[in-house]
Amino acid sequence: AAGDPEAGENVFRKCQACHMVGEDAQNRVGPSLNGVIGRTAGTLEDFNYSDAMVAKGEEGLVWSAETLMPYLENPREYVSGTKMSFAGLRKEEERADVIAYLQQFSEG
Ligand code: HEM
Repeated sequence: AAGDPEAGENVFRKCQACHMVGEDAQNRVGPSLNGVIGRTAGTLEDFNYSDAMVAKGEEGLVWSAETLMPYLENPREYVSGTKMSFAGLRKEEERADVIAYLQQFSEG
């Protein structure tokens, strides 16, 4: 089922310790998530990614609903060696909702 972006805004609180999105979003512990849907993994300028994330991008990983679902469920399993220290979102609905929220900042 498609996610609910309004519910996803609440889920994004779990990400906000490390990530910003929206107007004036900057890199923090994690990269800005503006435009993340459609971004090749590990390619934002001026962010110091792990070697593991850069390698995933070089292998062709592009962020989409299909790739974010497993990444957000278990980041360290999907990208072995990632420095995103986050256990993941166990609930499928929460993952779909936060992806729908991020989609709003990825158009154009
Ligand atoms: C990377 C999403 C929570 C720290 C990423 C990337 C995405 C993402 C999509 C890859 C970005 C890219 O390739 O440009 C999320 C979402 C979260 C979340 C949706 C909440 C559900 C967190 C938390 C932290 C964190 C809580 C800090 C404790 C990082 C770091 C990276 C990253 C450091 C870079 C990883 C690397 O280079 O290996 N995140 N994140 N994230 N995130 Fe998160």
